[in-house]
Amino acid sequence: MCGIIAYIGPHPALPRIIEGLKRMEYRGYDSAGVALASEGRLWVRKEVGRVSELTRRLGGGPEVGIGLGHTRWATHGGLTQVNAHPHVDASQQIAVVHNGIIENNNILRSQLEADGVAFRSETDTEILPHLIRKHYRGDPVQAVRDAVQHVQGTYGIAVLFAEHPDVLVAVRNGSPLVVGLGRGETVLASDPQAVVAHTRQVVYLQDRELAVITTDGADVQTLAGQVVDSEVEVLDGDYQLASKEGFPHFMLKEIHEQPRSVRRALRGRLQVDDGNAKLGGLNMTPRDLLSVQRVINLGCGTSYHAGMVAAMAVESLARVPARAEIASEFRYRHPIIQREAVFFAFSQSGETADTLGAVSEIQIKGGEVMGVVNVVGSTIARTCGQGVYVHSGPEIAVASTKAFTSQIAAQLVFTLMLARCRNLSLEQGQAVAAALDGIPGKISQYLQEPGPIDAAVELIASARYVLFLGRGFSYPVALEGALKLKEIAYIPCEGYPAGEMKHGPIAMLDDGAPVVFIAPRDSQTEKAISNMMEVKARGARLICVHTQGDDEVAGLADVSLPVPRSTDFASPLLTALPLQLIAYHTGLALQRDVDKPRNLAKSVTVE
Ligand code: G6P
Repeated sequence: MCGIIAYIGPHPALPRIIEGLKRMEYRGYDSAGVALASEGRLWVRKEVGRVSELTRRLGGGPEVGIGLGHTRWATHGGLTQVNAHPHVDASQQIAVVHNGIIENNNILRSQLEADGVAFRSETDTEILPHLIRKHYRGDPVQAVRDAVQHVQGTYGIAVLFAEHPDVLVAVRNGSPLVVGLGRGETVLASDPQAVVAHTRQVVYLQDRELAVITTDGADVQTLAGQVVDSEVEVLDGDYQLASKEGFPHFMLKEIHEQPRSVRRALRGRLQVDDGNAKLGGLNMTPRDLLSVQRVINLGCGTSYHAGMVAAMAVESLARVPARAEIASEFRYRHPIIQREAVFFAFSQSGETADTLGAVSEIQIKGGEVMGVVNVVGSTIARTCGQGVYVHSGPEIAVASTKAFTSQIAAQLVFTLMLARCRNLSLEQGQAVAAALDGIPGKISQYLQEPGPIDAAVELIASARYVLFLGRGFSYPVALEGALKLKEIAYIPCEGYPAGEMKHGPIAMLDDGAPVVFIAPRDSQTEKAISNMMEVKARGARLICVHTQGDDEVAGLADVSLPVPRSTDFASPLLTALPLQLIAYHTGLALQRDVDKPRNLAKSVTVE
């Protein structure tokens, strides 16, 4: 959430800061701002909206080699220019950019107001420049260190002093910060994405560490002032500036990338001849796998839905009790962590604060937790230490598509390993591996002929309410389809287990209400057909995602969207595709910003 960038070096800072902000805009796009230190004064510009809005109004700034910038996802205070970062102290000498939430904001604000400080914004962040000013006695580092001792909450901050154009100060507590060590220049950012244009040599700050950043690099210290011998790492991920490759939007490009991204999630992992698989990042021998008594998948949003599918697969194939849990709830309900349980933290970005909080809670209680993460080197991946990279490639559109299918594919590989050392014979293991191996081809086949998506969009775009239904493996897909439509088109909708529909949501249905039914041919199809009849009897219009050639289901549908046949556990990798396309095209029809929907952010680093 929120992108932070700071630069110090021999080159003009402003274009480098703007470039960094563009690379991090997916973290939040409510407003953007910059501050430079020039001739003993601060030069500050900020605008509501996108980085492009800022650059359009920027004019030429001073050509100095020090400054910082911010792209905001609002927490405290509305989307106004005054609330945009950087925030400055009353003397306009100290500029701060912040990612996170200051929890004792009210107390600190009252104390500062009692000291005579007049606040300009509604933000929690504005506390910081005033508090740093209060502690400033000429030493910028000491002032920041003293100030943050009073601050409770999560923060990644960068501080610029007009009087000290040779140093930047940064502190991390709960919100990621990475320092890029270039030649004669140093860059600080909340995301490696913004550092790679300068260097691949980085130091990740840890919680309660402070960095004194100069052109020579960064001195990292604890908040108590002890020097920290930080490890310099080399970024080896794919950090190319993403391109739409001819598609009008990243979301559509990412939907169409799924044959390749799912292939990457499986590549080198399936051992079809042995009916088995291998996940190098897990460090689990068959004996370790045999001792697993429970699997718990944690995640938020789309990642939670992927975790649901994976948990169902574990129960169904490996016969090991498994469940998925929403990460933001898990941490605060004093969870039971059993020694024989394995936890997986599902996260595309690897930065989601709620999921990271759950990881810490598990680790504090002595549990084993592994990441199911897309972004290499992200906080969750590093905190877990081991896990599964899903290798879907950079996902830029805020609404997750290819990461969802890759997370499922990667965890089906894990499921095969878990099942193979228990109850799957060689032949059964071979059949599962072959089924998975065939999925990328089937995704490609579907995307070449996606069916009458336009007809579905026509029913949905004008609807007051849309119900997504599915049973078994299709229930999490229904949840995901509804989430996508909410995120992209802002249409009220919900996903429900089809059998539960008669216990409430059926009251919402009236003549012409669109119901999206996910019903691939499996052991529950007959029950699903009964639910379809109930829906039709209320005058609802049925949009059915079903198996190719299933005339019985197709015959009930007002709009029929066939997908290639697959086994039940792999069906979500196919049935999710039309729902992604429906959300995308409905969003377009309603003139939404499909890649950057309102109020959302790609990386949610606040609780
Ligand atoms: C945000 C995004 C969702 C995403 C969720 C979890 O809410 O808008 O699309 O599913 O975060 O993100 P993660 O990076 O942990 O998968």
